[in-house]
Amino acid sequence: MAKKIIKRSWAEPFKIKMVEPLKMTTRAEREMAINEAGYNTFLLRSEYVYLDLLTDSGTNAMSDYQWAGMMIGDEAYAGSKNFYNLWNNVKKHYGMPYFVPTHQGRAAEHMISKILIKPGDFVPGNMYFTTTRLHQELAGATFVDVIVDEAHEAQNTFKFKGNIDLNKLSKLVKEVGAKKIAYISMAGPVNMAGGQPFSMANLKEVAAFAKKHKIKLWFDATRATENAFFIKELEKGYENKTIAEILKEICSYFDGLWVSAKKDLMVNIGGFLATRNKKVYEEARNMVVIYEGLHTYGGLAGRDMEAMSRGIEEMVQYDNVKARIGQVEYCGKQLEKFNIPLVYPFGGHAIFLDAKRFLSHIKQDVYPAQSLASEIYLDSGVRGMERGVVSSGRDPKTGLNRMPKLELVRLTFPRRVYTQAHIDVMVESVAQVYDDRKKIKGLEMTYEPKYLRFFQARFKKIK
Ligand code: F0G
Repeated sequence: MAKKIIKRSWAEPFKIKMVEPLKMTTRAEREMAINEAGYNTFLLRSEYVYLDLLTDSGTNAMSDYQWAGMMIGDEAYAGSKNFYNLWNNVKKHYGMPYFVPTHQGRAAEHMISKILIKPGDFVPGNMYFTTTRLHQELAGATFVDVIVDEAHEAQNTFKFKGNIDLNKLSKLVKEVGAKKIAYISMAGPVNMAGGQPFSMANLKEVAAFAKKHKIKLWFDATRATENAFFIKELEKGYENKTIAEILKEICSYFDGLWVSAKKDLMVNIGGFLATRNKKVYEEARNMVVIYEGLHTYGGLAGRDMEAMSRGIEEMVQYDNVKARIGQVEYCGKQLEKFNIPLVYPFGGHAIFLDAKRFLSHIKQDVYPAQSLASEIYLDSGVRGMERGVVSSGRDPKTGLNRMPKLELVRLTFPRRVYTQAHIDVMVESVAQVYDDRKKIKGLEMTYEPKYLRFFQARFKKIK
């Protein structure tokens, strides 16, 4: 008789209806491709990529329910019914009465930065995100990182590395005065820290602080359901709440939020801004017609808005989030078997390799994470991305490279796209590169664009 299994494994809550063939390449083809791409995985042509773990942004597989929604796209210039469906779901699940669609997240970041920031202001946040901080800086603000110290330590296993350090926040407010704080910018989970969540307890404290000092609190809700999942798993009192209930409670503490729908909502394009503040909403409606399109489509087709609306209904289903985060955890556990240096705890959307320890024989000024991402591609055609000194960019005041404590390669999981067998192959490739790591000497930057340099910078190998 088989032994009784107490706890069953999880499995994907879907089966596969349509497939897209993957292309295998030879090492010689990959040498050519990465050389042509200037050793930047963002510049690779995707046809030369085997497993694409560059990002989970817009790379998700939509469900049959979402595809069916695409067929009822109402492509009216004004007042499309899909806009109203989406608005209803934003109200229902994010709890915000006002809403403006945008073509993707950074368009909403652009608008909210311009609306709330006056030149000379400060924006404290729980670690920077590349596009978020750039829009804050372009609007004239100085970004101040007020995340807990644990977030900057790759191996620290603190559960809520996305938390804001209230001491850092109140120190800033004392120094510059509450009037100079445009808003507090809180994201969850925190992408650049490794997909790390904040706790509800911390959010409540931050919200109380913001209220006391009359400072606005805004939320980057791009992957908010993952944060809700971690709260359910890890925080006392939330174990019996649904993802939808936790998400709604999280949002209730914020004045407004922006979302890149290309993540949680499991679509290929889209974003939005939502708020309970009527004045901000009116400003956003004014701006969206300049930069995106009418306020009832914001740069999207009716069909895209329907897919987003249905994506909201699916993203709050526990089994979907569980399978997603379960896959990330599976990958982490497999990599651990080969002693690969990783960021802990495993986050929501990706596994992060700790390039500083992986390539401990080279210095940060020869771009360890950039080198590592290109070496993994060379080994197997698996594409990840750099999240270290290149992504960090230059300080706008001094022009010097920012040297972040975290020098990471992100292997990101598109939702509902790859199987566990794919992960096994990827893990073997990372293990191979780890075995051969001493041969890696680093890179030299040969071209540097002005903004968000990680997207387009070019490099050559140090011989
Ligand atoms: N906020 C967060 C936390 C993000 O991760 C992203 C995008 C954005 C905002 C901007 O949204 O791309 O729709 O304009 N992150 C992608 C990534 C690019 O790969 O992490 P967008």
